[in-house]
Amino acid sequence: MTQIPDLSPRKADQLDYSKYITGKMKYVPPSGIRKYFDIAAGIEDVISLGVGEPDFVTPWHIREMCIHSLEKGETAYTSNYGIIELREEIAKRYRRDYRLDYDSESEILVTTGVSEALDIAIRCVTDPGDEILIVQPTYVAYVPEIVLSGGTPVVVKTVAENEFKILPEELEKVITPKTKALIINYPHNPTGAVMTREDYEKIAPVIEKHDLIVISDEVYECMTYDGAHIPFSSIDGMRERTILLNGFSKSYAMTGLRLGYILAPPELISAMMMIHQYCMMCAPITSQIGGIEALRNGEEEMKTMVREFNRRRILIVDGFNKLGLDCFEPKGAFYAFPSIKSTGLTSEEFADKFFANQHVITIPGTAFGETGAGHLRCAYATSRDDIKVALDRFEDFLKTL
Ligand SMILES: Cc1ncc(COP(=O)(O)O)c(C=O)c1O
Repeated sequence: MTQIPDLSPRKADQLDYSKYITGKMKYVPPSGIRKYFDIAAGIEDVISLGVGEPDFVTPWHIREMCIHSLEKGETAYTSNYGIIELREEIAKRYRRDYRLDYDSESEILVTTGVSEALDIAIRCVTDPGDEILIVQPTYVAYVPEIVLSGGTPVVVKTVAENEFKILPEELEKVITPKTKALIINYPHNPTGAVMTREDYEKIAPVIEKHDLIVISDEVYECMTYDGAHIPFSSIDGMRERTILLNGFSKSYAMTGLRLGYILAPPELISAMMMIHQYCMMCAPITSQIGGIEALRNGEEEMKTMVREFNRRRILIVDGFNKLGLDCFEPKGAFYAFPSIKSTGLTSEEFADKFFANQHVITIPGTAFGETGAGHLRCAYATSRDDIKVALDRFEDFLKTL
């Protein structure tokens, strides 16, 4: 008689799963951001300055093109590189706005958000033992992705006194013969800092001297409030060394549609495409159709959203400074990074107590690395009315200290 295998769940419980999970996972910390969303679940009157996501819905004409495409039955894989019309629109935009020429056939790869772009860019350039420089405070994904690639993240410090810019001497301090690449991200999450052309021109010779590759995460490119955005590849001598990442999440409020892209020299695009084709195949076709529409006809709405972010930026930064919470002026993205050092509390103590007392979610600066200590990240991706209430609650909370 055939034996029926015992498939009861108890068998599975007996497995020691830690044995199977790679040792690298020990170095992948839990995100310091998620905790507050879990705590906030179910509490009414919560105001979140935590989430780094536009509070707008994707403009209707973009959604309509996605719907229309689905109605037509466009549900198949696309080219691994992405739909050619989308790559052509991306190339056109960079030519028009920045006079940067990227070949739509060989120098552009469409990805599933900047998150995937980052992952494949880091995996493409990192051999075990390579040191990859990250700028701290830092976006939370860089360290885990470097570690999972077998590389070692090395911190380049930036501070509020220097407007969180990378200084050439800070770069020189941490470069070793093992340094392979530098990841930069301006406009910057979590501080809202930007780098000017002159700032970049100061670090370019260091990058050249040490023969580094630069991964430039420019996902907040459209949110630059004081002068034009500077793509890192537009700096003299840097185009050949730059893997430029951008996407649609922030600029067109398309976070859930998961669409990004990479601009880089052909050899690097080919190498990253090899990873992309095995782990992703292609970005979702529906989102790519939306991306074409966004680039062809979405600029007005994008600018309207950015103008609204700018009004909120002014409101929140003024508010913090009036409350005596020193706030460095963020010139990009949608984050303010006020100092709470005057309160004597640590970032975590402040964020925890403030949430418990006033139901406002903020993120402790230390979630972005040690150099974020004494700061809070406050996203102004919420309405001006909510920002006003949040500022009143800050005032009430400060009175209790
Ligand atoms: C600096 C930075 N890079 C990348 C991403 C991920 O973007 P995407 O939604 O395109 O994956 C984010 C999202 O918050 C971000 O802040």
